[in-house]
Amino acid sequence: MYSGRGVRRLEGVSFPARRLRRLRRTPALRRLVAETRLGIDDLVAPLFVREGIDEPQPIASLPGVVQHTRESLRKEVAELADLGIPGVILFGIPARKDAAGSEAWNRDGIVQLAVRDLRDEVGDRLAVMADLCLDEYTDHGHCGVLDPRGEPDNDATLDLYARIAVAQADAGVDVVAPSGMMDGQVEAIRDALDEADHTDTAILAYAAKYASALYGPFRDAVDVTIAGGGDRRGYQQDPRNFREALLEVDEDVAEGADMVMVKPALAYLDVIAAVRHAVDVPLAAYHVSGEYAMVKAAAERGWIDGPAVALEHLTAVKRAGADIILTYFAREVAETLHG
Ligand code: PBG
Repeated sequence: MYSGRGVRRLEGVSFPARRLRRLRRTPALRRLVAETRLGIDDLVAPLFVREGIDEPQPIASLPGVVQHTRESLRKEVAELADLGIPGVILFGIPARKDAAGSEAWNRDGIVQLAVRDLRDEVGDRLAVMADLCLDEYTDHGHCGVLDPRGEPDNDATLDLYARIAVAQADAGVDVVAPSGMMDGQVEAIRDALDEADHTDTAILAYAAKYASALYGPFRDAVDVTIAGGGDRRGYQQDPRNFREALLEVDEDVAEGADMVMVKPALAYLDVIAAVRHAVDVPLAAYHVSGEYAMVKAAAERGWIDGPAVALEHLTAVKRAGADIILTYFAREVAETLHG
């Protein structure tokens, strides 16, 4: 708490009672008193792997990020492990999409193959996580199977999420990360994992996930267009709501989430701070595609110093209370922090 007394007066001269600038004088002093330390250990790199391509494909709205082949993914993850990055999260782009998104739980689906590759490549040097959702795999682009109204059918979708979880765990993921915002998804996934003897597979729940316009570039990255110009407001959270985020987080922790996530990050720092105080499980925040793209675009125009803004953004997310940050800047920032 601030305990200064404003202005002191001495022999007719006034001066500030507390000189806050003393501790800002040198880099060493500033380092000594820094309250927030962004480190490589905080970072998780989101990575895309696409079935049926021979060369990595650039993603126009995410400069520096690519759709990987299985081979280029292996190489990238080995390099990230060497940089000391402790985790990656995988997103798959299948060659074939259908109404149910069945490639998502195919034993030889692209993410399952990639997870096996990575286990072979890096062993346990790095935590391998997989996004657990259907939108990359359905031909209509929604996060679940549709009911007659064209909205994802909550409970029918839970059965499919259970299958995906088991397929990803069979392939060897350390963590599954359900991002579809169906009610009861964490419990359904935990039950399915336990029943399949995957009691060690952890769940990172996208607990407070908002229906954000900042996911635009991601949808280019995974080739998703929501059918009929639709959106995800029927299942993702309304950006106007705060208390609802705490309900979502409570539910997910009660259902067995080992870690929870707030997404996006910068526009929801209030939510990150509140969740940090509300629960004791590790808290992740997703600095999403649109957040990355805005920094890259402005930097490209010479309007901002991109690397500096990236560090400032991620530090703010950490300061708000996130323990883990998923960010497309992971590699760049790790290289900077290595010096
Ligand atoms: C859903 C999913 C999305 C993102 C992560 N998981 C897209 C969405 O909900 O529409 C977005 C990530 C980003 O924008 O970087 N599988």
